[in-house]
Amino acid sequence: MKKFAVFSCVLMSICSMMSAVSPVIAENAETAEYTIDDVRNLQDFLLTKPTEDLPEKNYDLDGDNAWTVFDLCLMKREVILPDDEQENTLVVYFSRTGNTEKIAEKIVDITGADVFEIEAKIPYTDEDIAYNNSSCRANQEQNDKNCRPEIAQSIDNFDSYDIVYLGFPIWWGEEPRIIDTFLESYDFSDKTVIPFCTSGSSGISTSERNIGELAEIGTQLEGRRFSENADSETVREWVDSLFVEVNKED
Ligand SMILES: Cc1cc2nc3c(=O)[nH]c(=O)nc-3n(C[C@H](O)[C@H](O)[C@H](O)COP(=O)(O)O)c2cc1C
Repeated sequence: MKKFAVFSCVLMSICSMMSAVSPVIAENAETAEYTIDDVRNLQDFLLTKPTEDLPEKNYDLDGDNAWTVFDLCLMKREVILPDDEQENTLVVYFSRTGNTEKIAEKIVDITGADVFEIEAKIPYTDEDIAYNNSSCRANQEQNDKNCRPEIAQSIDNFDSYDIVYLGFPIWWGEEPRIIDTFLESYDFSDKTVIPFCTSGSSGISTSERNIGELAEIGTQLEGRRFSENADSETVREWVDSLFVEVNKED
């Protein structure tokens, strides 16, 4: 909520400083669905950065004959926010003991997204994850950066998704190696990837860095670590806040 308040403040300042005038829009200007590129384009326009193809676009979503920060908010909502009819979002997760799965299910309930569970071709037994045993399978895998455990199934229609929530437990401070297998199995260059994890206490930052290095990702949003018993409201607040994070790297 703090981030949202800061963002709102920035928006209001931009708004008062800048009464954006829309470029002359061609009669056949696009009114189709918006994408992350449109969000970036309009955001750049409002920040007076160089932009592309503006005469071909109709970014006046609220119909007030000007392109303003309010249009940007509406566009971000359309692109990112939960929507039962949103069919372009996929929640992918790996969960050995069910904690990450519970968070993934909440995200699915909130967003109406499709879901895919990453399962290992050779399933992890209880012994495999007994991390007090230094030679258990999970520990061996985490000690080997190049280990890529095989995934049991693949996602046939991966290309049809724009937004991918990617969930996993923290194993020894980072994502399990099977997540690395997943990241190297698909093309993320036009996707928005939103990592989330559960853990005893460790944060998500090392995994976020690894994810960014393992795959070429269109837009990677800031990830979020949850405790195993995070409630639906906590997850909803996070999902609702995500649209302010779009293009944070700009
Ligand atoms: C092999 C292994 C290593 C773990 N390493 C960490 C760790 O470094 N930090 C931490 O906070 N929790 C660690 N945990 C605890 C898990 O992250 C936590 O229980 C998580 O919620 C499990 O998610 P899951 O039920 O979806 O599999 C580890 C668990 C296992 C099995």
